[in-house]
Amino acid sequence: MIVLHIDSSASGPASASRQLSAVAIETLRAGHENVQVKYRDLAVNPPAHLSGELLSALRPSPANPSEPGRNIAAELTLTETLIDELLRADVLVLGVPMYNFSIPSPLKAWIDRVAQPGRTFRYTDKGPVGLAAGKKALIISSRGGAIAGTPMEAAVDHQEAYLKTVLRFIGITDVKLVRAEGLNLGADTRKQAIDRALDELKLLEQACA
Ligand SMILES: Cc1cc2nc3c(=O)[nH]c(=O)nc-3n(C[C@H](O)[C@H](O)[C@H](O)COP(=O)(O)O)c2cc1C
Repeated sequence: MIVLHIDSSASGPASASRQLSAVAIETLRAGHENVQVKYRDLAVNPPAHLSGELLSALRPSPANPSEPGRNIAAELTLTETLIDELLRADVLVLGVPMYNFSIPSPLKAWIDRVAQPGRTFRYTDKGPVGLAAGKKALIISSRGGAIAGTPMEAAVDHQEAYLKTVLRFIGITDVKLVRAEGLNLGADTRKQAIDRALDELKLLEQACA
């Protein structure tokens, strides 16, 4: 089983999503014989955001012809590597804090690299079709506040809902979520949230078997 493990929190060792995603990987390793893990730390090595030059190289058009320079060639190589890592994986484990109601920007930059027509989705006359089907994904969500199940959730969650939309768009529909929220609401609330998430991760083997 090939696992793509992605962390995106900028908080280093203090990060709850990093702690929990590491436990998820340990659990997968404990439950399966041959687990190969490819790790991407997007906070430490963030892919550059799309520039006009990179976008025209990725998606050339008559109106926007590609004339890649040397730096863009390296960015195209990185893009291919990131797509290849995604397509090779059987399971994705994504550590994702909520930042300003959304996801950390390096993770958005990663999505902008891997969501490429002809590679991870294609347009058809019936709409877009995902090309990365058959994978499982586990989202480890961390949040300072607590919004799940509240009336405001739909209006302010551009993190979990967005990620599920992107994964579905590229064909990944088997998505599990482990959430630790209320992490900045006091030490007790934080501990309870992390303990609850750790308990949920114990069920991971069933989730990703
Ligand atoms: C830049 C930034 C923006 C944040 N925005 C939100 C937010 O919109 N909603 C929220 O509930 N928590 C927000 N938080 C709190 C984090 O979600 C919380 O600290 C969480 O634990 C971060 O995950 P981590 O521990 O894995 O780094 C924000 C934190 C940072 C650093």
